Amino acid sequence: MSYETILVEQKGAVTLITLNRPKALNALNSTVLAELTDAFAKFEADKSQGCAVLTGSGDKAFAAGADIKEMVEKSGAEFFLEDFFAGWQADIVRRTRKPWIAAVNGFALGGGCELAMMADFIIASDTAQFGQPEIKLAVAPGMGGSQRLTRAVGKAKAMDMCLTGRNMGAEEAERSGLVSRIVPADQLLDEALKTAGKIAAMPPLATMINKEMVNVAFETTLDQGLLAERRMFQILTSTEDKVEGMTAFVEKRPGVWKGK
Ligand code: CAA
Repeated sequence: MSYETILVEQKGAVTLITLNRPKALNALNSTVLAELTDAFAKFEADKSQGCAVLTGSGDKAFAAGADIKEMVEKSGAEFFLEDFFAGWQADIVRRTRKPWIAAVNGFALGGGCELAMMADFIIASDTAQFGQPEIKLAVAPGMGGSQRLTRAVGKAKAMDMCLTGRNMGAEEAERSGLVSRIVPADQLLDEALKTAGKIAAMPPLATMINKEMVNVAFETTLDQGLLAERRMFQILTSTEDKVEGMTAFVEKRPGVWKGK
């Protein structure tokens, strides 16, 4: 599949995916969804790739939201019958077991903020702006904003942002737990790729299980989560990589991973 709206490059074991509609501030339309779905599926299937970075082209926006021009003429019945936005959750989030990072440069608004929050974590440039301004269009978040933002920053900030439609700058976003770190805009991509490279060099089974375990915390009770965590830990102890990891520590050398 050749892509119109995204760019995909492999940088060693890291897949860099760039939203590439800079004239529309990388707004997310159905072509972007289809192409991202394909790119993430290829990343997931490619054994040489260990981590992905998703960013936006241009320095103004990661993505300024779902494409309003695609939605303006659509009827309520069409949105409902197409189960509009369902593909984001089903294809990109549920099926991607390898980790990926959102590198947010500039605006991440509406669907852009929601897409960034689907990542395992967000690295933001100091110019990043996050927001759920859908209320100003007389709608509401539809790709997870009311749910993931509330889990990330708590009720007070999520209500403030969803009800006023105001943006949150990078510092407030880091203070509130929405982003893991902030870097100067001109260093964003380097930092994200370096971090992704570090993750891609980790033992792959442990990497996928660590991701799954943290995500379990959002879906279940503490008791069930602790049980799942213990079982996952025990399962990892039967891998060849566990023997290598612990032996390498004792022998004071770096581990060499087989992914089994
Ligand atoms: N959809 C479609 N096109 C968009 C867009 C969007 N979400 N955001 C920006 N664009 C387009 C503009 O229409 C403009 O195109 P033209 O040159 O053809 O007119 C181009 O990108 C540049 O944008 P602006 O001229 O508006 O740039 P600005 O610097 O003046 O403003 C901005 C930047 C504040 C981000 C402004 O573009 C804006 O408010 N965008 C919309 C943000 C928004 O409401 N997002 C939520 C969308 S709904 C949603 O996402 C639902 C959901 O839950 C998934």
